[in-house]
Amino acid sequence: MPKVINVVGARPNFMKVAPIVDAMKRREREFTPLVVHTGQHYDAGMSAAFLDDLDLPPPDVFLEVGSASHAAQTAAVMERFEPVVIKEKPDWVVVVGDVNSTLACALVCAKLGVRVAHVEAGLRSRDRTMPEEINRVLTDQISDLLFTPSADADENLLAEGIAAERIRLVGNVMIDSLYKHLERARTSAIKEQLGLADKSYGVLTLHRPANVDEPETFGRILQALEKICEQLPVVFPVHPRTRKTIAELGLGTRVGRINGLRLIEPLGYLDFLSLYSGARLVLTDSGGIQEETTVLDIPCLTLRENTERPITVKSGTNTIVGTNPEKITAAAFAALNGTAKRAGNIPPLWDGHAAERIVDALLLA
Ligand code: UD1
Repeated sequence: MPKVINVVGARPNFMKVAPIVDAMKRREREFTPLVVHTGQHYDAGMSAAFLDDLDLPPPDVFLEVGSASHAAQTAAVMERFEPVVIKEKPDWVVVVGDVNSTLACALVCAKLGVRVAHVEAGLRSRDRTMPEEINRVLTDQISDLLFTPSADADENLLAEGIAAERIRLVGNVMIDSLYKHLERARTSAIKEQLGLADKSYGVLTLHRPANVDEPETFGRILQALEKICEQLPVVFPVHPRTRKTIAELGLGTRVGRINGLRLIEPLGYLDFLSLYSGARLVLTDSGGIQEETTVLDIPCLTLRENTERPITVKSGTNTIVGTNPEKITAAAFAALNGTAKRAGNIPPLWDGHAAERIVDALLLA
């Protein structure tokens, strides 16, 4: 019976790992799943809220690494994860996504000769200034099994010389969580609490260092918001990194003066799903939200110059608008006037059953 360590570290990991652990628990005669939380994210709103919302059991091991520079954080995860792997002797370690914890844990396994599977493999923005892109490329190179969400990811891996036998196209495991929790999210009181009627507001998320750590870029995004908020109130759950840089860059007064821009604390999974599923428009620099809005048929403007998830542009509702204020504003008004591109298709295998395909493949590998 394979013992599998499932790694979570940062906020976007929880909704990817939850369905995998759930699928393993449903097949308890076939798997012994463990959950290791690195503690990369640790605030209640960035971590505990997600465990609860997603019915993830409390982690079996908590590494408590916390925040630090990239090197220090990655090294701390490696140092603390290695003895866990040595003690537990898992048959597989499953890592998801592209955060520092993903690469750190994959590297520990590669060095110990323990098999590691990477979920959400093969995505490429081709922007090596993004820390996540480095994490993706390296994690894929050293993983034994690569679970991809879409065919473009397979092509990327093959082009990097990764053998086809290591690649399995399984679909999008994050969408498993979305489908599973959509009904429950409808019972969230968040829209009522904020006094929002469906389709009468926008939602903004912003946390990429390239956007929020750069005063000029952040300023350009604010310039666009000053215009957009004249037409549409926008709710902005603020990531801790962003809250910190708003203060450090002295942007608090300017942000506070934008009528219609409403800053709130980060939301848990169900409240956030409830909030964006009722939005008229989403503006984001997140990766996962590009996919979730595609599935729910909500116009999404991505405030970046590129995406590692091109299928959301090709067949979904996503438009890459960068950080030019005119371009952002024009795209937002096009979406509000109904002249923007409309829905497309939900990509193949984004069907709520990716986790089952992953656990099937792990048993056979
Ligand atoms: C990380 C991931 C990013 C992911 C994002 C989602 C990497 C390289 N980046 O970025 O891919 O999209 O998570 O949120 O792994 N902080 C808190 N409380 C927390 C966590 C962080 O206050 O619970 C603050 C700290 O000031 C910290 C900063 O946020 O220094 C950045 O945290 P970090 O985990 O380094 O990166 P994120 O920007 O969250």
